[in-house]
Amino acid sequence: MASADQLKALLKSHIEGDEAHFFSVAMQVAAHEAKVGHGKLAEDLRAMIDAAKVRRSTHPTNRNLIPIAQPRGELAGLLEVSYPKFHLSDMILEQSVENRLKRIIKELRNFGKIREHGLQPRRKLLLVGPSGTGKTLTASVLAGELGIPLFVVRLDALITKYMGETAAKLRQIFDAVRDVRGIYFFDEFDAIGSQRGLANDVGEIRRILNSFLQMIEQDNSTSLIIAATNHPEILDYALYRRFDDVVEYGLPGTAQIIAVLKNRLTGFSKPINSWEHVARIAAGLSYADITRAAESSIKDAIIHDRDVVTEEEVRSNLEERKAFRTRNTSSG
Ligand SMILES: Nc1ncnc2c1ncn2[C@@H]1O[C@H](COP(=O)(O)OP(=O)(O)OP(=O)(O)O)[C@@H](O)[C@H]1O
Ligand SMILES: [Mg+2]
Repeated sequence: MASADQLKALLKSHIEGDEAHFFSVAMQVAAHEAKVGHGKLAEDLRAMIDAAKVRRSTHPTNRNLIPIAQPRGELAGLLEVSYPKFHLSDMILEQSVENRLKRIIKELRNFGKIREHGLQPRRKLLLVGPSGTGKTLTASVLAGELGIPLFVVRLDALITKYMGETAAKLRQIFDAVRDVRGIYFFDEFDAIGSQRGLANDVGEIRRILNSFLQMIEQDNSTSLIIAATNHPEILDYALYRRFDDVVEYGLPGTAQIIAVLKNRLTGFSKPINSWEHVARIAAGLSYADITRAAESSIKDAIIHDRDVVTEEEVRSNLEERKAFRTRNTSSG
């Protein structure tokens, strides 16, 4: 806990508007907490101070606290804001993907320090992988871990028939990227990242892509720009070099399948004898499929007034998802 003197110094510097002193006392509090063994708290405090400093340095005239971000006017139709509370521990990931995400989070928590040395933290990310493997969830997790808002870009509203309009809307989004720190998430990015997008005219989508490339390249903000796609093969090559990191998601292996099932069936899974056996059935399914099958099994149990699932139910729900998947991939 901060000492009485530190608290008074914090208040006094705030009232007098002495920001430098305010941050310096806040750092002392963090150092003190680290010394008495509150490592996590110290780390959190430092991350908050770092983030606040960055915000100040990019907005020298803005001395007020940033209000809860809420897009207004035309932006409201283009950006959907939320404040997710997810954490990395809510995801089951392959080790390599987890390490990558941890590195990104660490760099972003040390934004100020890294920039002071003339370097750029990774903050323009491309997430690729099959449906239901956690790309959208990752955007929420990063927002939760960093305590910043998530703005989902509504592509249907962005891409209109009129090229001039789309470019102007894209400009508005990138202005927001600069002005309000957050995660700006372009889901189903192949719609603009490829030449086979939503617009009918190939030339038009090409021009939209070009404006995007220009804007993402010029962007020097403290926000994160995340794009996700399950069709990386059709993305324009010029795009790849604009991103600081490409994170590849895959279908879960046996260990991940078991982890997802155990996680989702917590409290309900006593009768399951062989997780390996159940996992074998789930091979080829996505994290989303397996989560759904587990949830169905819990619902079956609830409907039959039981407080546990049966192995049979779990298996049959997994089989059902598998059949569903096969039907839908073969017809698509
Ligand atoms: N790695 C994961 N760990 C735990 N749960 C997951 C994971 N991936 C997906 N899920 C579950 O599946 C749901 C859907 O995942 P998500 O929306 O992130 O998939 P996606 O990769 O964005 O798919 P799409 O390409 O179809 O948009 C999540 O809300 C979560 O319940
Ligand atoms: Mg998604």
